[in-house]
Amino acid sequence: MALLESRRMRSPDWIEPLLPHAARLIDQPLAALLEDDPARLQRDVLEVGPITACFRRQRIDAQAWQALYELAERCSMPQAIEAMFRGDAINASEQRPALHVALRSELEEGAAAAACAEVRAAEPRIRALAESLRSSGVTDVVHVGIGGSDLGPRLLAAALGTQQPAFRMHFMSSPDGHALQQLIARLQPERTAVVLVSKSFSTEETRLNGRLLLDWLQAPERVYAISANVPAAEQFGVPAAHVMPMWDWVGGRYSLWSAVGFSVRAAFGETAFAELLRGAAEMDRHFRLAPVHDNLPIRHALVAIWNRNAMGYASQAVLPYDLRLGLLPDYLQQLVMESLGKSALADGSGTAAFATVPVVWGGPGTDCQHSYFQALHQATETMPCEFIGVIRPDHPHAAMHLSLWSNLLAQGEALALGSASADLHRHYPGSRPSSVFMLDQLDAHALGALLAMYEHSVYAQSVVWGINAFDQWGVELGKKTAHRLAPALRGEQIAADPISADLVHRWRARAGD
Ligand code: F6P
Repeated sequence: MALLESRRMRSPDWIEPLLPHAARLIDQPLAALLEDDPARLQRDVLEVGPITACFRRQRIDAQAWQALYELAERCSMPQAIEAMFRGDAINASEQRPALHVALRSELEEGAAAAACAEVRAAEPRIRALAESLRSSGVTDVVHVGIGGSDLGPRLLAAALGTQQPAFRMHFMSSPDGHALQQLIARLQPERTAVVLVSKSFSTEETRLNGRLLLDWLQAPERVYAISANVPAAEQFGVPAAHVMPMWDWVGGRYSLWSAVGFSVRAAFGETAFAELLRGAAEMDRHFRLAPVHDNLPIRHALVAIWNRNAMGYASQAVLPYDLRLGLLPDYLQQLVMESLGKSALADGSGTAAFATVPVVWGGPGTDCQHSYFQALHQATETMPCEFIGVIRPDHPHAAMHLSLWSNLLAQGEALALGSASADLHRHYPGSRPSSVFMLDQLDAHALGALLAMYEHSVYAQSVVWGINAFDQWGVELGKKTAHRLAPALRGEQIAADPISADLVHRWRARAGD
């Protein structure tokens, strides 16, 4: 209660209506809450396309949901959604729209219509290049990129991996020479293609990895690039006919639907990529048209807001029970934390006087049960969980599939209900909230719907918080500082910061310089 009181002191207007509900619910056992409210069995499960979402084990009752729906109304959520689909400049600090939806949905208004026309115009060339790479006979493709130019395609390649790609895919992101050495030791340059992905084409890691790989490959005819900076890609040595565009109205972490997904598109074929886009387009339509209480991305966002701002939970675990989705937590770390890890309010009126992004973390089950689940069950902090499972597997091992699912379901139940014991070591407090997402199967269509759901939830959260989900100024300072420190490491100058200067001095001494 003291925590609630102190939060109340600092709460902005929009949090106030949530607090009486939080005060009522925060100490109420989740088990009692579930018993008292049989209606939640209907209300808190949504089926949208291939996704079944269960929010029943959140600490939110009917009145709290009502307050959350009113919050969505109060921040003009439907209007904010329309602004995105119209192509308004919702990325205010960069004065541009965020039109990833134009990469998969037909839009007819304003800047969005113009963006769709650009996508349509570029599409035949991208398709032809993807088909020619697919049938070229290369055995290996190295996709080079980082952040949004890496995580989406990397996740797709792993998630669709059981569906017979036309070639093996490899990813180079970090400038770690060990990774490069290990990779080129396994590959034959004459049977390999390289795909460079960088929206800016100025990202140091990608240029470094790209330069070394191009020198090793010695075959520009098997090099492709995707960038919003086409001249820079051509100057780098990529043949003009192999440079595909992306646009400044797509953020890197929202870009896998564009030619950024080129290597995956070539590997898995046109049908799979079209299905990916179709799944996302269906989620776009749902996000745009469904009323708030039936709207999956909005409900997901409201749960996140509730857990962060009303319950005060500081982290969110993402736990896929399917190894093909093992990279989902990494992908969501960028999508959520780069989008919502902000304090500045988008309208320039100041900084947020409330908590914004939680720490997003996690990993695949059941492995994680044998590492950090101890903390989920008995640590002092409550860490909400999101369990994701696939109902129909692409393997014949029924016993394994049942084991995976019984574990997934068991964890949500045990976390919520707990188990009392007089022996404190064996006491499980329970009341730890979680959601479950079931995908009918893990195909490109379901993946498109799932990832679009997360994108839209992030946007809906940013609307409540009044922050810009589409810039990332926070990462620039580190890049500039690294740039300044490189000459110091080479011994050409002394670093300005005394601690960095001392570390560089010790580094050089130990390296034998
Ligand atoms: O690290 C920041 C960032 O700008 C990400 O937002 C982006 O996805 C990544 O770097 C890569 O940028 P680029 O595609 O321009 O190489």
